[in-house]
Amino acid sequence: RLPRPFTTALPVPAVARPVSRAGGVDRYEIVQRAADVEILPGLRTQVWGYDGQFPGPTIVGRSGRGTLVTVRNELPVPTSTHLHGGVTPPGSDGYPTDIVVPDGWRQDTHGRSSGSGHGGHGGHGGHGGMKMSADAWTVSEQAKEYDYPLDQQAATLWYHDHRMDFSAPQVWRGLAGFFLVRDDEEQNLPLPEGDRDIPLMICDRAFEEDGSFRYPSLDPSLKGRPGVEEPYMGGVMGDVTLVNGAPWPELEVDAVRYRFRVLNASNARRYRLKLEPGGPLTQVGSDSGLLAGPADLQAVTLAPAERAEIVIDFSRWKPGTAVTLVNTLGKGGMRDVIRFRVARRARDSSHVPARLADIRPLARTDVAATRWFDFRLTSAGGGAKVWTINGYPFSVDRYLASPRLGSVERWRLTSDVHHPVHLHLAHFQVEARNGRPPAAHERGWKDTVDVRPYETVDVLARFHGYRGRYMFHCHNLEHEDMAMMANFRVV
Ligand code: C2O
Ligand code: CU
Repeated sequence: RLPRPFTTALPVPAVARPVSRAGGVDRYEIVQRAADVEILPGLRTQVWGYDGQFPGPTIVGRSGRGTLVTVRNELPVPTSTHLHGGVTPPGSDGYPTDIVVPDGWRQDTHGRSSGSGHGGHGGHGGHGGMKMSADAWTVSEQAKEYDYPLDQQAATLWYHDHRMDFSAPQVWRGLAGFFLVRDDEEQNLPLPEGDRDIPLMICDRAFEEDGSFRYPSLDPSLKGRPGVEEPYMGGVMGDVTLVNGAPWPELEVDAVRYRFRVLNASNARRYRLKLEPGGPLTQVGSDSGLLAGPADLQAVTLAPAERAEIVIDFSRWKPGTAVTLVNTLGKGGMRDVIRFRVARRARDSSHVPARLADIRPLARTDVAATRWFDFRLTSAGGGAKVWTINGYPFSVDRYLASPRLGSVERWRLTSDVHHPVHLHLAHFQVEARNGRPPAAHERGWKDTVDVRPYETVDVLARFHGYRGRYMFHCHNLEHEDMAMMANFRVV
């Protein structure tokens, strides 16, 4: 009962309107709520969306201009909203235990609802929920104002849920949206713009017969016991590819250049994107901003949470041609992603300049400290396994690093299986993969890097912006929910 590919038009998420622009600050109000939407033709799917939409509305912020977003929680469970890639003060960073609870929610010391009736957890494919003291929680009743100063360059960021133990099912239900930061340098470039600058949120989902999302939660109410059934501990994947919330959509394009801001918002799936029949993807940006110069690629690989801004020049094909973006890592129906139908010739004054942004490459002489972080599955005793960083499952009061504000550190990341490693606050440059310098498209500023099985990835991270508690973690959302997170403190 899966839909035929390329029969739905690509939706583009609406741009959020500020409720006020007074005082040099853009203010937004967003409501997290459930809504019934049609994702699969003829069926209704309940999503949990920002403003009831999946993806949520796109927020467009300006570098250096403060943005305040009030998030109101009308869902039945707590939430925490993280601006991924944001240089954000700690109190607004969406820490997992800094939660917004719905009306009437009673938070016990383990973060469970009083009504769930589950005292104990454990014994499932995970860590069994992280016990913590009452003072580990910061609780906002019903709403919270998040402060995003946006002291950072133009980039394709995104916001998503980060609730302790439950990020994976809550993002799966729809709590994710784009947040674009723009600046003058970027807007003065002759890149495609307006309706030729399109965000593409790619993620996979699975569905029940009735159209509802299928996810193997141990407690589907998301109020009691966290975690997923044992076989899904490695990560949950679906059998439908959604782009901007639509299954295998089609986009009619003019025979001109387009800029696509591609985000892998999947919980666990990786993509190696390629055009069929052939043709280059010109990468102009990565996670945290534009590249210094464009990189012409045959394929773009994205692990969960990574972004690539790519320009595709459709003038190389005759009107009438169908050009498909495929995922060469996907099998069967999961190979297709989106189809572009080249409709007509049109005027195009855009081009991709040889220089895009000033990026000062960080060097070993900048490095104040080198730290090692090993991401791996570890035995927790009694036959249980747990995802750990340096052998530790997450704990709110354990700090694995204390970098100095303004410093650059080399973080050496190692792994057992694929772990897309994300640092909050700090943007970084990839220095080396297994001792070798990174390819051109990995030389920009990033906030997430895929550490491939048994690889050693060195990143040079700049701890800039704010002091305080932040986290880093694996962005495979099931690994993250099952304890693969750690704190660092900027001092
Ligand atoms: Cu996109 Cu801490 O995550
Ligand atoms: Cu992982």
